[in-house]
Amino acid sequence: MGKSTVLVTGGCGFIGSHIVETLVQKSYRVRILDNLSTGKLENIASISKQDIDLLIGDVADLSTVEEAMQGCEYVFHEAAIASVPKSVNDPIGTGKVNYGGTLNVLEAARKHSIRRVVFAGSAAVYGSEPTLPKQESMAANPITPYGVDKLGSELMGHFYARTLGVEFVCLRYFNVFGLRQDPSSPYSGAISIFCDRIRQGLAPVIYGDGLQSRDFVHVSDVVKANLIVLEHPQATGKSFNVGCGVATSLLDITNILNDLTGQNLQAIHQEPRPGDIRHSLADNTTLRTLGWSPQISIRQGLAELLQTSVANLKVKK
Ligand code: UD1
Repeated sequence: MGKSTVLVTGGCGFIGSHIVETLVQKSYRVRILDNLSTGKLENIASISKQDIDLLIGDVADLSTVEEAMQGCEYVFHEAAIASVPKSVNDPIGTGKVNYGGTLNVLEAARKHSIRRVVFAGSAAVYGSEPTLPKQESMAANPITPYGVDKLGSELMGHFYARTLGVEFVCLRYFNVFGLRQDPSSPYSGAISIFCDRIRQGLAPVIYGDGLQSRDFVHVSDVVKANLIVLEHPQATGKSFNVGCGVATSLLDITNILNDLTGQNLQAIHQEPRPGDIRHSLADNTTLRTLGWSPQISIRQGLAELLQTSVANLKVKK
């Protein structure tokens, strides 16, 4: 594999740090741009300092992004404020990062003749229209500033690809889970919160009846998707769903966690979360045409999380 230099924005974050780790294993040179707002140095602590070049700074600042891109051939743009409720409370602040940051990345990519930008898009662009599974060709209709910024970013990326010659790929992530997902905010991913509670011997809290479902995709499968589209000749100018195509309800998650740990924790039900969509499910046919398929089931991924994060807990295989 190549020795190109790759910039990973948000490389100290949950998904970005996994991308960095894999790039280093594949002998790419890696530069990280991260403002450490939610990213953490400990996420990249296991990677040798010789293999990465860390720039602490903000994607919302164009000159910082231009500096970070010096000498790079490819960019994975993962930096974002991932909290949907935060975007609702502060559309301007989150928009500066989530949309403005992407625009900066695209403009700097044009100036630096970057070979390809791979962008962390989101299933949030589909909004709450109920037709399932979601296909990329379906109308996007985001219902939060977060989703609007992700959609604006991908449309702008496609404009840069079409008209300004910057190769661009958008990956629409569904519900990504795995090691290093931070459970500390009430708006963190449900799985990271559930595992954190189990570590403390507490039952999961479910907003609503627990029959709402999501397409949970393991972070290692998300990394694989990123690596495939980095150089694939048929990927540029396109958006791809990144989900397993399997619907799992929150009650299913609770049952699997109980089964894996031999417990019988009863979820605590609270009021449904306003704005929550009921079901989300990916049609991943398009990404499969590039040779991708998900490798880690929800059960395997949950077992890994429990084994790593819950000391002294017996986890069934
Ligand atoms: C997730 C992403 C979001 C992305 C969207 C795209 C996270 C944190 N959010 O949102 O960035 O735009 O997918 O599909 O990854 N829940 C509980 N108990 C909890 C936590 C959550 O019942 O302790 C429920 C929520 O109310 C929701 C479901 O679990 O019904 C999933 O919530 P969450 O993990 O926050 O993800 P999304 O809202 O789907």
